[in-house]
Amino acid sequence: MAWYNILMKSYIVGNWKMNFAVGESSVYLHKLTERIRASRDLEIVVAPSAIALQPLSLQIDRKKLRLAAQTANPHDFGAYTGEVSFAQLRGLVDYCIIGHSERRQLFHESDKQVRLAVAAALRNNITPILCIGETSTERTFGETSDVVRDQLLGGLSEVSAEDINKVIIAYEPIWAISSTTDAHIATPDEVAEIVTFIRRTLTDTYSSSIAEAIPILYGGSVKPTNAGAYLTVPGVNGLLIGGASLIADQFIDIIDTAKKVIS
Ligand code: 13P
Repeated sequence: MAWYNILMKSYIVGNWKMNFAVGESSVYLHKLTERIRASRDLEIVVAPSAIALQPLSLQIDRKKLRLAAQTANPHDFGAYTGEVSFAQLRGLVDYCIIGHSERRQLFHESDKQVRLAVAAALRNNITPILCIGETSTERTFGETSDVVRDQLLGGLSEVSAEDINKVIIAYEPIWAISSTTDAHIATPDEVAEIVTFIRRTLTDTYSSSIAEAIPILYGGSVKPTNAGAYLTVPGVNGLLIGGASLIADQFIDIIDTAKKVIS
């Protein structure tokens, strides 16, 4: 394990996507809170649907868990029907997932929207979790590093020098998300290669001290059975989990694995 894996805080982030009614979210959060022990070295974050954020922000025990939004609009206020802004989320959440591949692909979120969202999150005291990752076609055509570099530097392009170390990066290869077969799961070596590339790109663009201080998470079909392998990839500081975060036993199992890896 590289030294920065050890010194840096680790993150386990559960992206609930569009699952759970508000009441179910509350019951699930209660269950997690009962079973999780606070740890200074491990930040556990859950990202419920927007509608559940306000009630859960009143319920959450921030010593054990933190809340993330799954997306938000970069404008602070205005005529944007159906949207929720970072300014409205200020104080409710500590994190926001930005540029998730489902937002980019299904809702046509542009690179411009992603970079404005990263800046808006920081402006509103919310830590952006900037998601980047290639499709299977891009990987097949050898375009992974170009895509990852463009999404990374594009997403960070509005961030000032003093804010750059407030950002978290999540590498989520799109072909490895919600996979049902092992053929579509990234190997730890594949993750290591791209995470090294991300840090090298951050070093070349900013500095090695900045590159080493930015947490990089991995996401894509993380399960209790493979979490340990991803968490021990040099340069990986945590996990962004979809499906397995919806099942308390699996999510807690992954948290326990993370605690073992960092201790
Ligand atoms: P899965 O863990 O279900 O593959 O989802 C990953 C993801 O998209 C997390 O943001």
